Amino acid sequence: MKTIVVYRSKTGYTKKYAEWIAEELGCDIKENAELSDIIGYDMIICGGGMYAGTINGARLILKNLDKLSGKKLILFAVGANPGTDKDILPFWNKMLSTEQQKTIGHFFLRGGFDFSKLGKGDKLLMLMLKKHVQNIKNPTEEDLGLLAAYDVPVDFTDKANIVPLIDYAKKHKN
Ligand SMILES: Cc1cc2nc3c(=O)[nH]c(=O)nc-3n(C[C@H](O)[C@H](O)[C@H](O)COP(=O)(O)O)c2cc1C
Repeated sequence: MKTIVVYRSKTGYTKKYAEWIAEELGCDIKENAELSDIIGYDMIICGGGMYAGTINGARLILKNLDKLSGKKLILFAVGANPGTDKDILPFWNKMLSTEQQKTIGHFFLRGGFDFSKLGKGDKLLMLMLKKHVQNIKNPTEEDLGLLAAYDVPVDFTDKANIVPLIDYAKKHKN
């Protein structure tokens, strides 16, 4: 099965996972791909950072489902959140219908947060969030962790996290 990993990455976390996945599967990889780049493949693995509840770049797959029919599709979302069911299940329910969740492989991989690498618009959004969190009367561990990450980048990437996605891809390769 001809396989490609495509991804978008603003601050490098998704890039790291995409490279690990492509290396593990021995397949092609392309950043900022377009439909013409993926149409010749049988398995398309598409990843991007989580930004305000969506996956950066997942439109390439989700807006072209008709043109990609018959291909094996896998999505992965790279976010700063801890990836508990409480965070992730509602996210996938918003991204994919129940039917799509049965046929499109979908995985969460924990990334990190690097304020210094963000563009102007994202910096502004995150500064608004910082103000909001600073005003919380009884901040949780998670709130405090978020505030600390504005000063020192955090990186939760771990190659072991890709194992379930790799197993799923290998199972669907034949
Ligand atoms: C404006 C903005 C919104 C974000 N929204 C979310 C979110 O909804 N959930 C989450 O887990 N992480 C969120 N993050 C954190 C990113 O998903 C995280 O830093 C990710 O590792 C970025 O991957 P990338 O560098 O490959 O783009 C957000 C970050 C920014 C700057």
